Amino acid sequence: MSRLWNKRYGWTGVVMAVFMGLLLLHSLSKGHSTIPFSNRDAAGSPMKGGSIPNAPGVPIYVMMPLTSVSDDGQLKKEYSGRNISWILEQWKKIGVEGLMVDIWFGLVEKEPQQYDWKPYIELCEMMKSANLKLQTVLSFHRCGGNVGDQCYIPLPKWIFAVAENNSDIFFKDRDGNADDEYLSWGIDEEPVLMGRTAVQVYRDFFVSFRETFRQYFGNVISQVQIGLGPAGELRYPSYQLSKWTFCGVGEFQCFDKYLLRRLQQEADARGISEWGHPPYAKDVGFYNSTPAETLFFRDDGGMWNTRYGDFFLNWYSNELIQHADRVLTAAGQVFFDRSNPNNDFTGRFHIAVKVAGVHWHFRSKAHASELTAGYYNTRYRNGYSPIFRVLKKHEATVVFTCMEMKDNNQPTDCHCSPEDLVGLIVRSSIANNISFAGENAVSFYDVESYRQISAVSRSYAVTKGKPMEAVTYLRWPEPIDIFFQENAISYLGQKFYDFVRSMAYDQAESIDFPGL
Ligand SMILES: *[C@@H]1O[C@H](CO)[C@@H](O)[C@H](O)[C@H]1NC(C)=O
Ligand SMILES: *[C@@H]1O[C@H](CO)[C@@H](O)[C@H](O)[C@H]1NC(C)=O
Ligand SMILES: *[C@@H]1O[C@H](CO)[C@@H](O)[C@H](O)[C@H]1NC(C)=O
Repeated sequence: MSRLWNKRYGWTGVVMAVFMGLLLLHSLSKGHSTIPFSNRDAAGSPMKGGSIPNAPGVPIYVMMPLTSVSDDGQLKKEYSGRNISWILEQWKKIGVEGLMVDIWFGLVEKEPQQYDWKPYIELCEMMKSANLKLQTVLSFHRCGGNVGDQCYIPLPKWIFAVAENNSDIFFKDRDGNADDEYLSWGIDEEPVLMGRTAVQVYRDFFVSFRETFRQYFGNVISQVQIGLGPAGELRYPSYQLSKWTFCGVGEFQCFDKYLLRRLQQEADARGISEWGHPPYAKDVGFYNSTPAETLFFRDDGGMWNTRYGDFFLNWYSNELIQHADRVLTAAGQVFFDRSNPNNDFTGRFHIAVKVAGVHWHFRSKAHASELTAGYYNTRYRNGYSPIFRVLKKHEATVVFTCMEMKDNNQPTDCHCSPEDLVGLIVRSSIANNISFAGENAVSFYDVESYRQISAVSRSYAVTKGKPMEAVTYLRWPEPIDIFFQENAISYLGQKFYDFVRSMAYDQAESIDFPGL
């Protein structure tokens, strides 16, 4: 411990050591078939330089406001009386690598196959002048209705025109409620979107994006995240805020006719046709049930741990994994086309996929809320490794949230463990040798949360032997003078500056911001 507790490493070292110890204890006390944290890198060779890694060296990005492009397609240039070029200068001075921006399906493709990229091109130009990088998120989901959303950007109108005659293009719960946040992956390969399949819609979007932004790949655009589900996360919409409150188990969302048909086909193919149905209401409860109230999710003797439960959960999670595989295959063909050097941007940027941080009921046996979200992760089964194997196949980065969350800030009756969940995700990503990038789940300004992110990043660097790809801070403060004021940085801005430096250069002590 005394080696850690010095000027260079300060509190980060101590927090890291405690954190690592806890993670190791948890991984030993649980049945997960993942590698525990250790002083070995993914290749299995001992790390050089003892137990202390080099500086975490993690570049920090800042998420732009959800409404940085208006409904009528204009880039927002003023934020509470400050112009965007001035703000970009301040971000550069504070030391961030760049920003992250959502590129909304509902704003870009207002008519089928007619794309309006104008505001995003303008943004790329400004980022280039400011010498900042940009993580672009191709957001195929609706903005609004999720935690922290202060916006309403639905899917394009033409999608709703199709839905008028065919509401099954959206996910449905067992009461037939359609969720219009994201297209069901039941139609990934069904040509029901005015003749195109959902995957074709995504692929056409990628092609237009590539043709428009090719000159920015690598020099401005450093990551292209692909939204694979609601809230941009690879998951089912199992906990919609209109029906669910924390920390209910959520509901399965496979009741559109396409997914139901695929389930029956799977059961038929295995000679167990009578299992070709989702679990019944009387067994799985409702959005806000507790696991113990349900026959399906209860710890002991629950249906999740039966042959039918295993069949269903395997199918349900595989549908999600196949969706990732299909869309990433399309992305690979568009952005990393080995047969055409003009369209091969290998090494210029990473494709990234966001996985949701479903941490409630993580300490139970069934992990009910992860199951309804499509992660077949229980006390006896690692549900993230199969997803990460698909990401590895496409050399995609996993983006994971809840980096800042601590177990002791969670209510005690929900069996939450964001810290154990982060630990499991980190270990599984390392075991599968994929790149890892982090985000926080909820907006914050407190020092304790910065420290938690630093601690996780450091333990990651120790285990992996190299730093995380990036951490994206959610979110650009509004009003902006929460950080940047006329001729001064605010107290909260200074704390963020300290965080950026501690992540990049491993300096724990506070240094005054160089001035505005
Ligand atoms: C891990 O992946 C990288 C590329 O993503 C590759 O260069 C490296 O050889 C892989 N390591 C192992 C142990 O497979
Ligand atoms: C932006 O604001 C700064 C300082 O407030 C000012 O010096 C600069 O001229 C402004 N730029 C534009 C393009 O309005
Ligand atoms: C929906 O169905 C109606 C009646 O069958 C038809 O007139 C209309 O064109 C359909 N709309 C779409 C978008 O397919």
